[in-house]
Amino acid sequence: MTHDVTVLVVGSGGREHAIASKVAQSSHCKRLLVAPGNAGTPGERHNVAVTDVQGMVALCKQQHVDLVIIGPEAALDAGLTDALYAIDVKVFGPTQQLSMLESSKIFSRQLAQQLNLSSPHFAHFPKGNADAAIAWCATFDRPIVVKQSGLAGGKGVVVPESIVETHIAIREAIAVGDIVLEERLIGTEVSLIALCDGITSVPLPLAQDHKRVGEGDTGANTGGMGAYSPLPWAPTDIEDDVYTQVLAPMIAEMAARGTPFIGLLYAGLALTDTGLKVIEFNARFGDPETQVLIPRLQTPLASLLYKAATDDLDDVALQWRDNSAVTVVLAAPGYPANPIAGGEISELPTVTDTQIFHAGTKSADGKLLSSGGRVLTVTGIGSDLTEARNQAYRAISQIKLTNSFYRTDIALNASVAEKGN
Ligand code: AMP
Ligand code: GLY
Repeated sequence: MTHDVTVLVVGSGGREHAIASKVAQSSHCKRLLVAPGNAGTPGERHNVAVTDVQGMVALCKQQHVDLVIIGPEAALDAGLTDALYAIDVKVFGPTQQLSMLESSKIFSRQLAQQLNLSSPHFAHFPKGNADAAIAWCATFDRPIVVKQSGLAGGKGVVVPESIVETHIAIREAIAVGDIVLEERLIGTEVSLIALCDGITSVPLPLAQDHKRVGEGDTGANTGGMGAYSPLPWAPTDIEDDVYTQVLAPMIAEMAARGTPFIGLLYAGLALTDTGLKVIEFNARFGDPETQVLIPRLQTPLASLLYKAATDDLDDVALQWRDNSAVTVVLAAPGYPANPIAGGEISELPTVTDTQIFHAGTKSADGKLLSSGGRVLTVTGIGSDLTEARNQAYRAISQIKLTNSFYRTDIALNASVAEKGN
């Protein structure tokens, strides 16, 4: 990339704050816009909703945007990429059709099956057909997981503990839309994300997300309560295995179909006794994985994503810092079921080797207020996970928001395993 560009980051979460902060530091970024952004995102904020495709198109035309980086799945699913292609703007993020890898669990499971990717047994049922779904459970006769097929902000999966809970979960999910029932996998989870320009792809370092709301990985699923990277306990070949067995075949299939995947392909995996198995695909940066990966990235982000958007990744070698990052989410009371917004957040501390990313925040009358379920993500950086954890928890413990909460065990087991190494 030889010229400077105007960049628009689409989204308003902690992920987008991390992306926008990094883009702002790139020498090739001459102007940064965010839409809609939050109270912490750098750049010019434009109040356009992520699914307002025509509003985003108008913004790009008015402001002469060169590159759009799309954060949330809702914008991809709304067809923002396709609409921007139509006005010849470079986009980092897949088309509506390819984002079905995330927005339709039926589509992604069927495709994974066709490609023989190692996956759990599954069946799918249309909205309203609870009786057929419950009958399938009886024949399957093993613990299952109940999933809404469509987008649900990371909250559409129930892992029931009994037959009664399974039936309740099925009835609730199938009233909303189509569902997938699948074999319950037992094993540690990891996330691997590949950066793709349609043909060439490069894996990012492994990260691990903590999806459950409660300590010790208990309670309801959330969008993610914390994450860390790297994974000192992971076998060294896991990254290669996931890339070659799961991500590369999927990316190659998209290219072979004449619909190259540009953006980030995210695979959530379970490392089971019988090998790795795909839990899910996402078609974008993970949240909160981004908040631990981006602080470790040395390569300038604006030119990197511009190259990905212009089929030019083949000579790129990503540079990573040899450090560790841990991010902890501060959640609003009631999250994930019924988060209460509008609480006042105390002044944010300044702690060395820490980055505080805003997620659900807004400013009003000179005050910083919560405006969503995940309010802030606090990332600590250190030479190892223990140091990174200490930094993150030192900062988050100084933030006051009435009845907010955070998990105290993010990366705890991994930091113990690291000391044992
Ligand atoms: P997903 O939205 O598909 O990533 O699922 C959210 C979370 O639900 C995952 O991170 C897992 O913890 C859990 N989960 C999803 N699918 C399965 C499965 N087949 N077996 C066990 N746990 C699962
Ligand atoms: N952290 C999981 C996700 O972004 O969906």
